[in-house]
Amino acid sequence: MSAGAIVITGASSGIGRATALRLARRGTSLVLVSRREDALGALAEQCRSRGGAAVAVAADVSDAEAVEAVAIRAVVEYGRIDAWVNCAAVATYGHLESVPLEEFQHVIDVNVMGVVNGTRSALRRMIPQGSGVIVNIASILGVVPQPYGAAYSVSKAAVRALGASARSELALRHERDVHVVSILPATIDTPFFRHAANHTGRQVRALPPVYPPELVARRIESALRRPHRPERVVGLLGRALVRQHRRTPRVIEGQVALQTELTNLSPTRGGENGSGTLFTTDASAEASVTGGWHGRSKTALRTAIGTAAAVALGMWMLRRVGKRR
Ligand SMILES: NC(=O)c1ccc[n+]([C@@H]2O[C@H](COP(=O)([O-])OP(=O)(O)OC[C@H]3O[C@@H](n4cnc5c(N)ncnc54)[C@H](OP(=O)(O)O)[C@@H]3O)[C@@H](O)[C@H]2O)c1
Repeated sequence: MSAGAIVITGASSGIGRATALRLARRGTSLVLVSRREDALGALAEQCRSRGGAAVAVAADVSDAEAVEAVAIRAVVEYGRIDAWVNCAAVATYGHLESVPLEEFQHVIDVNVMGVVNGTRSALRRMIPQGSGVIVNIASILGVVPQPYGAAYSVSKAAVRALGASARSELALRHERDVHVVSILPATIDTPFFRHAANHTGRQVRALPPVYPPELVARRIESALRRPHRPERVVGLLGRALVRQHRRTPRVIEGQVALQTELTNLSPTRGGENGSGTLFTTDASAEASVTGGWHGRSKTALRTAIGTAAAVALGMWMLRRVGKRR
């Protein structure tokens, strides 16, 4: 890649933060975006101390004008935008008919319109310069939708569709060096599950197996270098689920539903957190890379259940292959 900027939205925590720190080590010029100015400022410092250049720009990605201002700032600071990583997202958990409508709408505004806004602002620079890579973070839940998380699943399916549509359009216009890549992570160890709104009456936890955010950061970096693969699923179980979902959607949706019920939500009541950090940028939001879900003893039972489900899926797939032969 040349020496222009890489814009990362949702940089203040989790996958966005891990990606910024990884790219900073390569001496990249970064434009770090999310709503929380303090968290971004501290991250920019960290990136500079690792050898990167970084500016922090507080913006709400659902606001198209604010996102366009980010693009203008990136060009003023670094001359051009080489890549744009749309990572910002939120979620709300609860029954479809009773999740507050404004939360459902907000998830769509941030997760879909935020990615639309970022993609449009990026394309406005990349098409005239004849090159660039846009990486949109979707989720395996955009392929295999989850119960109690309709808004999120809908939003992630839309992010995949947006990527496919943009790629077709670029191909018809012979824009061979402008790329749009969708990344579909499985469960990742970030503060995401505590940031989410929750009206289930139970605690929302990471659905095992849980993969480290640095794994996604690595995949994002490799997508930036080799952007010709349009979609990348991150996490072994995620890849198995997505592949098998093409063949037997109802079985896989049933399995994800069961896993959500058994491991994503706590068995006991308590732990609701209202609207989470959807509408606030106060101290309740965490600005760390990880969420503390990976490899902790208290997650061992849930990991065992997740692994058992994965093994059951694998055996079931093998049996099907055997029967066909
Ligand atoms: N964790 C997982 O298991 C998982 C799995 C699959 C896909 N993903 C996807 O990975 C991406 C990163 O999520 P994560 O796990 O790293 O979660 P996270 O730690 O909660 O990060 C979400 C980021 O989005 C930012 N954000 C939220 N609302 C915003 C808004 N209106 N405008 C601008 N920024 C906003 C947050 O920062 P501020 O609060 O400072 O705005 C934060 O930096 C998301 O697209 C998520 O859907 C996550």
